[in-house]
Amino acid sequence: MYYPEEIVEEIRLKNDIVDVISGYVRLQRKGGSHFGLCPFHNEKSPSFSVSQNKQMYYCFGCGAGGNVYTFLMEYEHYTFPEAVRTLAERAGVDLPEAEYSEEMKRQESRRAQLLQINKEAAKYFYYLLRRPGGEQGMRYLQGRMLSAGTIGKFGLGYAGKYRDDLTKYLKGKGWRDELLQEAGLCTIDEKYGTHDKFWNRVMFPIQDINNRVIGFGGRVMGEGTPKYLNSPETPVFDKSRNLYGLNLARTSRAGNIILCEGYMDVIAMHQAGFGQAVASLGTAFTEGQAALIRRYSRDVLLAYDSDGAGVKAALRAIGILRAAGLTGRVISLEPYKDPDELVKNLGAEELQKRIDGAENSFFFELRVLERDFDLGDPEGKTRFQQEAAKKLCGFAEELERENYIEATAEKYRIGFEKLRKMVNTYAYTAGGASAGESAVRPKTGQQRKTSPEDGAKKTQRLLLTWLSEDAGLYRKVKRYLAPEDFTTDLYRQVARRLFADLETGSANPAAVISQFADEEQQREAAALFHTKLPLPGGDKREREKAFHDILVSVKTYAYEQDSRRMERDTDALNRVIRGKKALEELKQTHISLD
Ligand code: CTP
Ligand code: MN
Repeated sequence: MYYPEEIVEEIRLKNDIVDVISGYVRLQRKGGSHFGLCPFHNEKSPSFSVSQNKQMYYCFGCGAGGNVYTFLMEYEHYTFPEAVRTLAERAGVDLPEAEYSEEMKRQESRRAQLLQINKEAAKYFYYLLRRPGGEQGMRYLQGRMLSAGTIGKFGLGYAGKYRDDLTKYLKGKGWRDELLQEAGLCTIDEKYGTHDKFWNRVMFPIQDINNRVIGFGGRVMGEGTPKYLNSPETPVFDKSRNLYGLNLARTSRAGNIILCEGYMDVIAMHQAGFGQAVASLGTAFTEGQAALIRRYSRDVLLAYDSDGAGVKAALRAIGILRAAGLTGRVISLEPYKDPDELVKNLGAEELQKRIDGAENSFFFELRVLERDFDLGDPEGKTRFQQEAAKKLCGFAEELERENYIEATAEKYRIGFEKLRKMVNTYAYTAGGASAGESAVRPKTGQQRKTSPEDGAKKTQRLLLTWLSEDAGLYRKVKRYLAPEDFTTDLYRQVARRLFADLETGSANPAAVISQFADEEQQREAAALFHTKLPLPGGDKREREKAFHDILVSVKTYAYEQDSRRMERDTDALNRVIRGKKALEELKQTHISLD
């Protein structure tokens, strides 16, 4: 935490969330909440709600949510400290200097040193490329049709023929071997001593959104393996939370982001005028990267390779994008392998056409699925239709689902009513969704059954929401329940804080959220308080049963988890003993919701 918690809380309390968000979104009062069009995804009917009581917002469409700090972080792309400073100013609160612990200072200075080393290395590679000894690298890049402007813009460089060039250079500047190794630029081994990781390659510096060099990719000039060598993960290089080219793409006015597979694709696209292109960093696309993109655009176009591996990677990416509330469309590159080759052969105008004609990701998925079935054969056709119906269940919003059913029916010439009936049948039987929540967005492109872990997390969310909304309930169940019953770190932290608050007074979900400085964690924490509770306003006995079931299910899952760990972990063993007792007691106990 950068600022003392009391101050963070004071500032939050002085900035009413409805007031603040009203400055950005037109809100209308409806029941206990205010509703408006979600600023974080495209929608036509309002599913974005702001609660004055909870001092939180939540979008039932895309899952964006949090407190007033989260909102500014998501909307204005502020960091947590920036959001705190802005709201402090708005409310006229004087902020003390940010507090850093000794440990944080140490880590910060180490990170700063690693960034400095990367910067000096990037400059050195850049210089080597332009020096007489760098001709081979320069020829290679020119042979790939890169202009001098493009080479400069991406800061491309060259690692020379010698295996200790960079090491010598950086050591000469006073850096210690150990730090050079931590930066991933050198390897220390007994035989050769300290030597360079990259040599005889053209170098692609990888920058974060603030233009700081965080790592490198190096390509062999011509054939050879490995084709690319990448920096390892380091304290400044998190491959799952950065994207190549995003530092440039973030200021593009295109209104969308094009996600490619390779560095060269990004560079070729930018050179052709598509400044919104980015790529992952030699690893598969991740949720963290989707979250990063989400800050800049909701509209993502995939320009993955057209081969089998590319299609598979695209399907995975589609699932991740969808789970993050982003719409994905797929650009066809046929008959070329990747965007770089398409642009080279057919030019920018053709690429623009392909972008305009990009395929809706759902139909892309169906088209890939279709290949597994013989649609000429009644058996194959039936099975394909069933699979399609299953996939259609993934659309949680009714209107959206209906539209997709209609479009799918038309495209594959299935009767609309017939397909709708199939979808509804699956919606009721698949996954065993608990009352109150019907279809859930699938996590990946491939429809998959809810895993036990996902199911457990869902009941844990239900329980947290329920306890936060009915403060008296906590008293009745606290003897059975402990924060350790929540099986992921984040859930456990939230439970610990919520229970402590409930002990002393009333629950305060918005305060719980400011405990997390990371936007994604804030968002996830917010979701814990916004599950749709079963049978709201329904029959009391049924509600009591639902609550009891949820509680038993959370306890049972925690108990099973602990049982599996108890041989290695004495804490787990103790919890198992207590948990068994609590469960037996709980099963006999009636918990009233009065
Ligand atoms: N990649 C990697 N290591 C490899 C091969 C690939 O890290 N041995 C990563 C790189 O980030 C690369 C991306 O995967 O940019 C895509 O790989 P590929 O399509 O093979 O390369 P291109 O980007 O098309 O590069 P080029 O056009 O130079 O062949
Ligand atoms: Mn390529």
